[in-house]
Amino acid sequence: MNGCFITFEGGDGTGKSTQIKLLEDYLKAKGKDVITTKEPGGTEVGLEIRKLLVCGDKDKFDAVAEALLYFADRHIHLTKKIWPAMNEGKIVLSDRFADSTFAYQYWGYNKRVSKETLQSLYQISVGDFKPDLTIILDIDPEIGLERSFNKAKNMDVKELRFEGRELEFHHNLRKGFLEIAKEEPNRCVVLDADKSIDELHRDIVNVVNQRLGL
Ligand code: TMP
Repeated sequence: MNGCFITFEGGDGTGKSTQIKLLEDYLKAKGKDVITTKEPGGTEVGLEIRKLLVCGDKDKFDAVAEALLYFADRHIHLTKKIWPAMNEGKIVLSDRFADSTFAYQYWGYNKRVSKETLQSLYQISVGDFKPDLTIILDIDPEIGLERSFNKAKNMDVKELRFEGRELEFHHNLRKGFLEIAKEEPNRCVVLDADKSIDELHRDIVNVVNQRLGL
């Protein structure tokens, strides 16, 4: 595969989708062939899985069932969209990938599903493949959640299943993302998301240029 895979991670309301659009515009202006996508729901079938996961009662699945559904979505996403695009030499920007499963289903739920289980599911559905670069947007969960609730007010379908969890869950998953970044410093960069949209965009462009020379 000669393309490139960049993932954006972080808690809810960190501004990932805004920043991905800005990076897409920046890279396209440089003449790069870029596509953007997201998890869950980067494919048609994935959108059906997304509905199951993000709508409805917060206790309708446990962490194991959630992890299975996220990895099913991810496997379809990789085989139908990400890998074919990379094979055509494209830069793929994804709003979330597997770090979200480790952060939400392992750290968020206070390790109720083991890391080994998630690593096995990763092997089965992703193999040895990893993103070339992961940008983790970090913010105090109280600020992030307020942003998410404001965004949801304008949605037809309310995707608030995760936002309905207690604050401790969101603090745990923030810790989880920071832990992942510490474990894999060559792949992950943590950026302060409590900055203006323009400042954060500049930080992201700097990281992408330094790490990948795009
Ligand atoms: P989004 O709102 O960022 O599109 O993500 C949907 C929700 O799904 C969000 O609250 C994070 C959660 N999620 C997980 O719990 N595990 C995962 O593996 C992924 C990709 C997302």
